[in-house]
Amino acid sequence: VGEIGVAVVGPSGLVGREILDLLLTRRFPVGRLSLLGSARTAGGTIEHGGTTHRIAPLGPGVFDGLDLVFFAAGPGVAGEHAPHAVRAGAAAIDTSSRYRLDPDVPLVVPEVNAGLLSGRRARGIVACPSAMAVALGVVLAPLAAAAGLRRVVASTYQGAAGAGRHALQRLGQETAALLSGRGSEVRSRGLAFNCVPEIGAVLPGGATAHELQTVEETRRILADPALALSVTAVRVPVFYGHAASLHVETERPLASEDAHEILRRAPGVLLHDATSQGPTSLEAAGTDATHVGRVRRDPAVDHGLALWVALDAVRKGGALNAVEIGEILLRERAASPG
Ligand SMILES: NC(=O)c1ccc[n+]([C@@H]2O[C@H](COP(=O)([O-])OP(=O)(O)OC[C@H]3O[C@@H](n4cnc5c(N)ncnc54)[C@H](OP(=O)(O)O)[C@@H]3O)[C@@H](O)[C@H]2O)c1
Repeated sequence: VGEIGVAVVGPSGLVGREILDLLLTRRFPVGRLSLLGSARTAGGTIEHGGTTHRIAPLGPGVFDGLDLVFFAAGPGVAGEHAPHAVRAGAAAIDTSSRYRLDPDVPLVVPEVNAGLLSGRRARGIVACPSAMAVALGVVLAPLAAAAGLRRVVASTYQGAAGAGRHALQRLGQETAALLSGRGSEVRSRGLAFNCVPEIGAVLPGGATAHELQTVEETRRILADPALALSVTAVRVPVFYGHAASLHVETERPLASEDAHEILRRAPGVLLHDATSQGPTSLEAAGTDATHVGRVRRDPAVDHGLALWVALDAVRKGGALNAVEIGEILLRERAASPG
């Protein structure tokens, strides 16, 4: 593949910066690079690969001549501008929630369903799941293939970075305020030294929008629209790193030794074996793997397994998923030019 024209929309954000880092370290064949931001950051500069790049504002004509556009600026920006990128002839890879449940747009986790990218793609947009759905897809797909899934219960422990750089800053500020005795300035539902069981709006019935979205995304990734999956999502006072406790009931018996073996071979999984301690959020931060540990039998139900998962939401759960999709699209293009 020759060098191509690439844009990153939202280069000042957590996912956008990580995408830029991955383009360099994975030697993505970038010829021309455009950085596109909001009116707030347009005109500012970002160092990338020894070159200073100026952030341009989104607007008419910015996608002309580009091959691939990574959107890392939220659902509103993706909904408004991804169709323009596609009309200009680019493939658009969106990290936001905007297209994740759109039946015309493939929702891709490369380790699980990269096959959706072969051939032509409706509208030329590809959606990336939320970080937790990436982890659930990577971990559950090999277990589903081996023994079928009857029911999954997931309790998630999500660090501040999953909510973007402002949440990261807020956790730092609130932590400093509490440690320096200015605790009255911190809200009881703040992030510091607190677990907040509310990510996204609480809907009638009591689930949050994020929890229901995670269920629907995971069902799409696993191509199992009836998957019985219950999610409770909790924001925890951790800067980087998401984790989850999973309780899995399989259709057919699956010994925990066999589950270990399946997960050891599963693409994208780094298994911490039964004799080691479970992977922590900090161990996962900055890494490319979905870490799995504490794999054990759950004797409370027939065919029950319990396990622990940790990943870097920004990197593995966001930017890396997007860049790997870009790499697959390049290979597809090389295989069928024109
Ligand atoms: N954080 C994660 O772990 C994670 C994981 C997977 C997916 N995602 C998704 O990835 C997207 C980005 O998340 P993030 O964590 O990187 O957020 P973030 O740190 O808050 O960054 C948001 C980026 O979007 C840009 N932006 C906002 N409004 C814009 C506008 N109107 N026009 C152009 N640019 C605009 C911001 O630019 P300014 O600097 O100009 O404001 C900033 O660069 C979100 O949709 C998120 O759901 C995040």
